[in-house]
Amino acid sequence: MINNSTRGKLIVFEGPDGGGKSTQVKLLAEMLNDFGKKVITLREPGGTIIGEKVRDILLDSKFIEMATKTELLLFMAARAQLVEEVIIPALNEGTFVICDRFIMSTIAYQGIAGGEKIEDIKNIATLATNSLNPDITIVIDVPTEVGMKRVGSKKDRMENKGFDFHHKIREGYLMLAQETNNVFIVDGTASIENLNEKIMEITKRELF
Ligand code: TMP
Repeated sequence: MINNSTRGKLIVFEGPDGGGKSTQVKLLAEMLNDFGKKVITLREPGGTIIGEKVRDILLDSKFIEMATKTELLLFMAARAQLVEEVIIPALNEGTFVICDRFIMSTIAYQGIAGGEKIEDIKNIATLATNSLNPDITIVIDVPTEVGMKRVGSKKDRMENKGFDFHHKIREGYLMLAQETNNVFIVDGTASIENLNEKIMEITKRELF
C-alpha cells in the first residue's frame, strides 16, 4: 500500500521507436539527481531478471509466429513483475521512478496498431499493475519516417513490423495524449539539449 504523503513519483516516457527516449530518460535522471532526488531508471519490458527474460522472447526476430494476444500478455507479465518487485517498493521509499514505456505502449502497439480491444488491455493492466498510473507521461513524438530511419537496419521483432504498423502507433500516441490526463507531447526532432530542457520544465512544473 502506498503512503501518499511520502510517496515518490512515477514518470513515464512513451512514444514511437526512434524518438530518443533512452537518452532523455538518462538526462532527466541526472538532473533530478542534481536536485537531490533519489531516482531509479527502468525500461519495459525488463527491469527485473524475469522481465529481461520475457523481453528476450518478445524481441527475438525468430518468433515471427507470435500472436498479438501472446505479445500483449507477455508485455503485461513483465510489467506485473516490475510493478510488484521494483516500482511499488521504490515509490514507497519516496524515490522518483523513471520508466521507459508503460501501459500506453501496450495500448498503442497491441491495441491501436495490433487490433486488440483497448478496453481489454486496460482491464488486464488494472490487474497487472494494481491500478498504478504514472504521475506524468512524456510522449516523445517523432514522424514515422524519422523514427524508422533512426532505428536503422538492425531491427528487433517489434521494430520489424513495417511502416504502416509504426505509422498507426505514432497516430495512436497523438490521439491517446489528447484523451489522457497528465500526458505531455514533446517534439522528438528537437536537439537533445532542447528536448531535455523542455522535459525538465514540464517535470518541475508538474511534480515539484
Ligand atoms: P524499446 O525498444 O523501447 O526498449 O521497447 C521494446 C519494443 O517493444 C518497442 O518496439 C515497443 C514494444 N512494446 C510493445 O509493443 N508493447 C509494450 O507494452 C511495450 C512496453 C513495448
